[in-house]
Parts: sequence; structure tokens; C-alpha cells
Amino acid sequence: MRIYVHIPFCESKCVYCAFASVVGNVDLQQKYFQTLLKEIEQCKENETVQSIYIGGGTPSCVDKKFIEQVLDKIKAHFRVEENAEITLEANPCSLSKEKLKFYKDIGINRLSVGVQSLNNKVLKILGRKHNKKQVFLSLKNALQVGFTNVSVDLLIGLKNTNIKKDCAKLLKYKVKHISAYMLQVEENTPLKSMIENGSQILKNDDECVRDYENLAKFLQKRKMQRYEISNFAFEGYESQHNIGYWVGDKYIGFGLSAHSFDGNFVRTANASDFETYFKGERDKEVLSKAEKDEEIIMLGLRCKYGFDLTKLSFDLSCCQIFKEMVDNNILLKDGSIVKLNPKHYGISNTIILKLLNCQ
Ligand SMILES: C[S@@+](CC[C@H](N)C(=O)[O-])C[C@H]1O[C@@H](n2cnc3c(N)ncnc32)[C@H](O)[C@@H]1O
Ligand code: SF4
Repeated sequence: MRIYVHIPFCESKCVYCAFASVVGNVDLQQKYFQTLLKEIEQCKENETVQSIYIGGGTPSCVDKKFIEQVLDKIKAHFRVEENAEITLEANPCSLSKEKLKFYKDIGINRLSVGVQSLNNKVLKILGRKHNKKQVFLSLKNALQVGFTNVSVDLLIGLKNTNIKKDCAKLLKYKVKHISAYMLQVEENTPLKSMIENGSQILKNDDECVRDYENLAKFLQKRKMQRYEISNFAFEGYESQHNIGYWVGDKYIGFGLSAHSFDGNFVRTANASDFETYFKGERDKEVLSKAEKDEEIIMLGLRCKYGFDLTKLSFDLSCCQIFKEMVDNNILLKDGSIVKLNPKHYGISNTIILKLLNCQ
């Protein structure tokens, strides 16, 4: 079983972000962590925990004692595997050396640092608080403190960014994992209004596909494998937590807007506004067989692990489109395991949609 903990606080709100997070005052944070600890304590699940992901928001921007209390509570309440991957999401400007040492001491063994870009002008447009210098300082400090498993998040799709050059610089700081996300223009964000008002800050689709392909080649040469459409890692440094999501493991999400999944058909979601969350209300969604099939195909084809035909509720191998894709090496079939040929990651959405029509 996997555990996700959501920390919905940030130092400022980035123009593109639609995640549940606020620039929180101390009183709200106090109340939030009290509720969160109670939520963990009241959880009835008793399976062994293989990974913990403390995400957000920006977990590194809240008082570090809150993070310690959350981890202590999880460890007291669940059996956490000795070598469990424990990730903390962080922003470069809130990662002091002292904080890093503290995180290391309480058992965090993986950091996911939100770099986004190494172009200071672009960072400013995005509403980020940090600059390039702070990125390098935080990565250097993380190394010195002894973090050997550091991931960075970058955004693809912004003009005046050069993701290959950024990665070359970041690799000098021994980062082991890179998540390169295609920038999504989300509803009700300042970015959406900027684009509607004519701001020309985005690359076009072809440029984005080319950026991904060039990045994949560049990182492949340096022995970093693209193990999911947006994720690259050196061998042994793939995110165990995210792999758990992609292969359909059971997970529990604690905190505002966090989701849980029973590994079968039931998904629940915490409220994404504070008042309802404080009341403890959860939404329950039972997936239909068709929805579950969709999820298996979609998640499996986005990563190198693929999906198992025998897990579907229908016989996909009878479908003509599927057969043609296998014959044309678009899909790689080995027994009942089906994977998307990495050459076609750029058009994965189209391929997935065609397969879903076989249902
Ligand atoms: C929820 S954030 C948490 C990390 C941390 N708060 C930060 O931003 O540095 C995780 C990652 O999601 C990505 N992200 C957020 N909004 C996005 C969007 N609209 N499109 C693509 N990626 C996005 C960013 O790369 C970010 O690092
Ligand atoms: S991208 Fe990260 S730092 Fe920016 S508002 Fe969203 S969660 Fe906060």
C-alpha cells in the first residue's frame, strides 16, 4: 500500500497552478495539521506501507515540525517497510541546509524539487519565488547533507526555455530523476487569462513534441531512461511511489483534496475546500468495469511497464485496431503484457483513444 499526504500551502501562487494550495496563515496551518493527524490516526487500513509521498502545495514551506509530526504519526499507526521510499516535494527557495538536515534525520530519503526552468525571466513570468542561483544552491546543499535520490520537476512548452541545456546543468548536481511536464493551461488560472489576452509565451504543439523527443535522446545518451511519458530516471531511481499509481496499487491519500484507491474499483476523494475537509466529508466513486479498463489501458501505455490484457474485463486482443497496432510495432506485445513502443510516446493520447474505442 502507498500513502500520499497533501500539504496545501505555498509561499505564493504560480500563474499556471490549479492544485489545491493557498498562501496559508499560521492559524490555518495549525488547524490543518491537527485535522490531518487525526485523519491518519482514524484510518482503519492495516497493510504494510511501501512508499510515502508528501506532496502539495509546497511541503518545504511549512514549519518542519509539522512534517515530522506527520511522519511520526504514519510510522506509529502503520507498518512502514524498512526501505520504504519517502519523498518530500520542495521549492528551491524554502530548502535551507538546516531544513535539509532535519528532513534527512526524520527519514525523508527522496526529494522532488520544483525547478520548472533555469531561465530567471521565465520563472518570474510564472510567478515563481526562486531563481537559477537558488536552484543550484539547494541541489548542492541536498548533496552535501547526503540526499542521494533527488528529482527535479521541469516544464515543457514555454518559449525561451531550453530543456536540454537546463538538464545538462542540473545533471552536474547528480540529480537522479527528471519529471518534465507538459505545461497545461488550466481553467481559472492567471495563465489562462494571460493566453486569452494574447500573451505569446507558449510554444506550439510540434515544438513541444520535438522538445520531448530531443530531451529523451539527450537523456538516453546519459543513461537516463524515459520510463513514463514525462519521467526520466537512472536505473534504480525510478519513483516507486508513482510506479505504484501506474500499475494500480492500493493507495491512501490524507489531507485536502487527496484521493484514495482500494486497488480494485473504489476511489474516494477528500474535499478540496478547507471547511468541508475539516468536517471530514469524503466523496466515494465506484468505478464501472469500463472505467476501470480505461484506467488500466491509459496508465499502462504511458509507462514502460505496460498493462496486462488479462486484467481487462473484455478481450482487447480480438479488436482489429489492436491487432494492426501490434503488427505495426506501435504496440509491443509479450504474452499478455502490452506496452507502447517508446518511439510513439509523442502520439500516445491518439493511440489510447483508438484502443478505448475497442471496448
Ligand atoms: C503540485 S507541484 C508541487 C511542487 C512544488 N509546489 C513546486 O511547484 O515546486 C508538482 C509539480 O506539478 C507541476 N505542475 C503544476 N501545475 C502544472 C501545470 N499547470 N501543468 C503542468 N505541470 C504542472 C510542476 O512542475 C510542479 O513542480
Ligand atoms: S506549482 Fe507548486 S509552488 Fe506553485 S502554486 Fe502550485 S503547488 Fe504552489
